[in-house]
Amino acid sequence: MTAGTSIRQRLFFQLAGIAALLSVAFFLVVQVVAERAAEGTQDDILSASAIAIADSLRSEESGVTLELPYSALSMLSTINEDRVFYRVVAAGETLTGYEDLPLPDETPQLGLPTFETLSYRGDEVRSVSVVRAVGPATNLQNVVVTVAQTRLGLEAISRRITATATGVGAGFFLVATALSLWAANLALRPIDRMTGAVTRRGPKDLRPVLAETPTELAPLLEAINSFMGRLRASLTRTEDFIAEAAHRVRTPLATVRAQAEVTHRKLQKPEHKQAIREMIRAIDESSRSAEQMLDHAMVTFRADSLAVEQLNLSALVEETCERLKPTADIRDIAIRTKAPDEPLMFEGDSILLQAALQNIIDNAIKYSPEDSEITVRVDAGADLRLTVSDQGRGFGAGDHSKLTTRFERGGNVGNIVGSGLGLTIADEVARVHGGTLEIGNNPEGVGACVSLVLPRL
Ligand SMILES: Nc1ncnc2c1ncn2[C@@H]1O[C@H](COP(=O)(O)OP(=O)(O)OP(=O)(O)O)[C@@H](O)[C@H]1O
Ligand SMILES: [Mg+2]
Repeated sequence: MTAGTSIRQRLFFQLAGIAALLSVAFFLVVQVVAERAAEGTQDDILSASAIAIADSLRSEESGVTLELPYSALSMLSTINEDRVFYRVVAAGETLTGYEDLPLPDETPQLGLPTFETLSYRGDEVRSVSVVRAVGPATNLQNVVVTVAQTRLGLEAISRRITATATGVGAGFFLVATALSLWAANLALRPIDRMTGAVTRRGPKDLRPVLAETPTELAPLLEAINSFMGRLRASLTRTEDFIAEAAHRVRTPLATVRAQAEVTHRKLQKPEHKQAIREMIRAIDESSRSAEQMLDHAMVTFRADSLAVEQLNLSALVEETCERLKPTADIRDIAIRTKAPDEPLMFEGDSILLQAALQNIIDNAIKYSPEDSEITVRVDAGADLRLTVSDQGRGFGAGDHSKLTTRFERGGNVGNIVGSGLGLTIADEVARVHGGTLEIGNNPEGVGACVSLVLPRL
């Protein structure tokens, strides 16, 4: 599986990117709006000052005179330590003020103040010019009043606004980023929940997933469930096929075996007898394989949906031993059971447990010499143990753990027929019941000792 990109990361980075964009936009908007407001305030005061000066223009016979109202200029000094300049021009001549203070390029219209930002005496200044018609109606004269002020105060305000806007923007970004992380996690929680619901299941649990999912994930869940449905159907088909195949193989094999036995008896020549014996052995191998494969398929199938019931282990052991007695009797092998008198209750699938125990005892019979004894014990300690010990060849030295693998047979089998599925079945049954299968040599002398260990409820 390749490590793809993470939706959580992508979502987080996208949200954080949006937050960053919004922070920058917020910063720009705050700065522009606040600077405009500050500039507007300066413009208002400047034009009020220019109008106040224009209002004090008088027309006399000698021409236009002006009594400069100092209040007009003092209202400007309230803004920081900015320098103020003014100039009053009548008929092209400077009446008072700074002669080099530039006038607007175009003569402003009557009553409409004209604003300009320009460089004057080494500083940037904001200037306003108003035009007032002064004089008798017959000899009206246009007087231009220009008032200008440096912009140091405005720049200081602008710096303060920038600092504040930067701080607020950065704070907004950090909070938004933290919220993005939280939101990304929250948005993906249903996926985590669904993943949990699927991964918590056992390897054979193919029931539909019923986790609650948001509508967006419903198609995915449906796809998973439909996939599991198909998988389940396919498994069932395979198991049915194995069962069917096993039946179909076993029946004709039994007929062939009977025929071979008859032929064996009739034949005289040792080499012919030997050939038929080998044929019978091959038939036995095939027949056993078919039987065990059928059992294995049954175990695998039942393990999917355990038919759990309360059962008495001691009774189950007695019953299984009873069933195997005829086989043991043929080889003069005695099966002894040692179980506590009181019933030993366990919650499990009796058919599976019987299959497991039957395979373990079957091994004990198969790999023991004639006229020996097999002991089946039921012990209740920290857990429940069904132990089968025999007086046979034992497992020998070395690692026996592989013997629970499918079709794996030991090196101690000699010419005994088998398919290598018995311990696989027993191990699988132990595991689906939450237990284990312990394989070893008999600690009390010769023989093997195999235990089905089940958890106590
Ligand atoms: N009681 C035992 N004594 C000695 N060896 C045993 C005993 N039980 C199992 N084994 C060894 O473990 C191997 C695996 O056992 P398992 O029952 O899985 O297969 P099998 O008996 O060979 O075939 P089958 O599937 O027909 O039972 C055997 O081939 C044998 O070598
Ligand atoms: Mg076996």
